[in-house]
Amino acid sequence: MAKQPAIARTVPALRRAIAAWRQAGETIALVPTMGALHVGHLALVREAHKRAQRVVVSIFVNPTQFAPHEDFGSYPRTFEADRSALAAAKADLIWAPTAAVMYPQGFATRIAPEGAALAGLEDKFRPHFFGGVCTVVAKLFLQVAPDVALFGQKDYQQLCVVTQMAKDLDLPLKVVGIPTVREKDGLALSSRNAYLSAEERAVAPTLYRALKTSAARIKKGEPIGRVLDDGRAEIAMAGFALDYLEARYALTLAPLASSQDGPIRLLVAAKIGKTRLIDNLGV
Ligand code: PAF
Repeated sequence: MAKQPAIARTVPALRRAIAAWRQAGETIALVPTMGALHVGHLALVREAHKRAQRVVVSIFVNPTQFAPHEDFGSYPRTFEADRSALAAAKADLIWAPTAAVMYPQGFATRIAPEGAALAGLEDKFRPHFFGGVCTVVAKLFLQVAPDVALFGQKDYQQLCVVTQMAKDLDLPLKVVGIPTVREKDGLALSSRNAYLSAEERAVAPTLYRALKTSAARIKKGEPIGRVLDDGRAEIAMAGFALDYLEARYALTLAPLASSQDGPIRLLVAAKIGKTRLIDNLGV
């Protein structure tokens, strides 16, 4: 049987484990998650092993990044399965604080990111989201003090925002984005895919198809406006309620000044039934 990773549930217990590794001269990677781990998370753990001697995976469903009408209550919580998956993936430690440990009574500080966090993409539909993400990720970075932290490119705007935050706050670590892991039909892996009915699951790959087609047409030099309009129509025809399909500068997520400019990233978010899916692709 695979060796079980240690579990820390308090900041002092976490710091003791980290201090012992640091005293032994070991490097540390952090993979921040909200649990409900899938193959995409395990790919992050695999990459983490290549970049550091010790791998910490945090599991914390962060209440501050959910609006009251969102799925905080129903977000899948699968700690025992996550623990077994992390044992098989040879993670060294699971950092699993409670909400009271992360946000003790009297907690009164929040990070208010700007720049890519105000790009008019996820922030337009989830205005509370990046403040909550940055506040918890800054805490995770300071608690674990890793050399490197790994995030999936699937949450591309989140990756841009967190990278900028680490830079702006002089946090001494490297933020690394790892390519999205996809199902065979192209659907990006996400813990929220578990919400899809069989019919919704069947049409869900439309998002990736529309991204791929749009990227190929833009690469060929077709006008971006027309390409995006066609992509939006395809997504709507498949039964999605589209939030956005946009082409942006890959690094800042600012709107493009001209189609000659790049690198370009296409980003999409749409709801099928009650489930909101996001995806993105480089051109
Ligand atoms: O991407 C996620 O799972 C979350 O937003 C993160 C980075 C773990 C912060 O709660």
